[in-house]
Amino acid sequence: MEKIISLCKRRGFVFPGSEIYGGLANTWDYGPFGVQLKNNIQNMWWKRFVESRADVFGINSAILMNPKVWEASGHVAGFNDALVDCKSCKARLRADHLIEDQLNIKTEGKSVAEMDAIIKKGKIKCPVCGKKDFTDARAFNLLFKTFIGPVEHDTSIVYMRGETAQGMFVNFKNIVDTMHPKLPFGIAQVGKSFRNEITPGNFTFRTLEFEQMEIEYFIEKETWQKSFKEWQKEMEGWLLDLGIDKKNFKVREHDKTELSHYSKKTIDFEYHFPFGWKELYGLAYRTDFDLKQHQEYSKKDLEYRDTETNKKFLPHVIEPTFGLDRTLLVILLDAYHEEDVKGETRVVMKFNKQIAPVQVAILPLSKKAELSNEAKAVFQMLQGSFRAMYDETGSIGKRYRRQDEIGTPYCITFDFESLEDKAVTVRDRDTMKQERVKINELEEYLKKMLSEA
Ligand code: GAP
Repeated sequence: MEKIISLCKRRGFVFPGSEIYGGLANTWDYGPFGVQLKNNIQNMWWKRFVESRADVFGINSAILMNPKVWEASGHVAGFNDALVDCKSCKARLRADHLIEDQLNIKTEGKSVAEMDAIIKKGKIKCPVCGKKDFTDARAFNLLFKTFIGPVEHDTSIVYMRGETAQGMFVNFKNIVDTMHPKLPFGIAQVGKSFRNEITPGNFTFRTLEFEQMEIEYFIEKETWQKSFKEWQKEMEGWLLDLGIDKKNFKVREHDKTELSHYSKKTIDFEYHFPFGWKELYGLAYRTDFDLKQHQEYSKKDLEYRDTETNKKFLPHVIEPTFGLDRTLLVILLDAYHEEDVKGETRVVMKFNKQIAPVQVAILPLSKKAELSNEAKAVFQMLQGSFRAMYDETGSIGKRYRRQDEIGTPYCITFDFESLEDKAVTVRDRDTMKQERVKINELEEYLKKMLSEA
């Protein structure tokens, strides 16, 4: 992980947030290559799950919502972590993490009192100072609060959304009334969510703000198992198409005690992170919990009318949820390779070529105007069709290393011979093989090479 964090900083993928002020713990800023990679993943997801499907409708809902939304959804009452403070060094710690890390006992579904009892048995040490003296465990709500208007009093409290999902539920009626969809159909969005996580960490794995790509897929109750299986396959297909190695992810089903308040069945797609097998994505059968709650709290009729049978009912929901930042992290981890090249270590990011932040780099052999002017013309020619970069600083060897770390699939060297033969050398990132290609055939050549997985 340290190697990935360092590469991300060195090459402009991810920087610590507010760094010049000493940072703000567990916030991260995406740099030029990081944001490009993120946009590429998001666009690929949107194309696959929204644009290419007649049964999924995209939305982009407000982050700030009427606070009743979060009361209805159960987040105000139940979206909690159990915390303890170390009486000695005052460190604030998550009870579940202490128990899981030190006793290797699963805590999902355990109440605050149960976790408190485990900690009180006295085997757990403060990971900061080593003492065994904790306060009682207590519930801590994960929703961030803020205020609308100038006065900070209770009536103006609003929450930063804790999941994008609620935006889809509160717009269910709007989509039915405007798009007239037949069941099953989905509502999707990509956007930021916020959680006041107490012990975030592991780079971008758990942060205070993060992006989710979520679909609420509305179905008839009787078909939930079929839809669940279909979405499981869809999610697996997505991971494989991103280029994630099959041996690095697996599916784990939540046992009964572990299920969220809204779910009858949940599976996690777990990834083999350097810090263990951890959740990457989730797939949940949310029943009609959310629509029922919103119907009750809003007093609006949210039932769906089947135009053929005239039956009215609340649809049930299958929810595939994908963390965008975690996807990016997994792509970085999976792409990272170290290779021995003639006694030296070559670090290369083997990104799927379709999502690589830079697809082609143009490198003139020398900075001399006679070469650089011509090389710039090649860059301009390619810029319209590919994510291209022009780089003339440093030795050619250094520039190849830089592009390997950025994960650029093809480097194009423009040399003195290019002036004569109107051809350039194209170097393949993965094989390091070089090939001479005519400049007027370059665009076609790259299109073909980049379309291959
Ligand atoms: N709507 C369901 C929902 O929000 P979740 O399992 O709490 O379910 C879904 O979150 C996904 O969002 C996770 O699988 C993960 O990819 C991502 N995620 C959740 N909390 C996160 C955090 N603190 N930092 C980064 N990503 C997070």
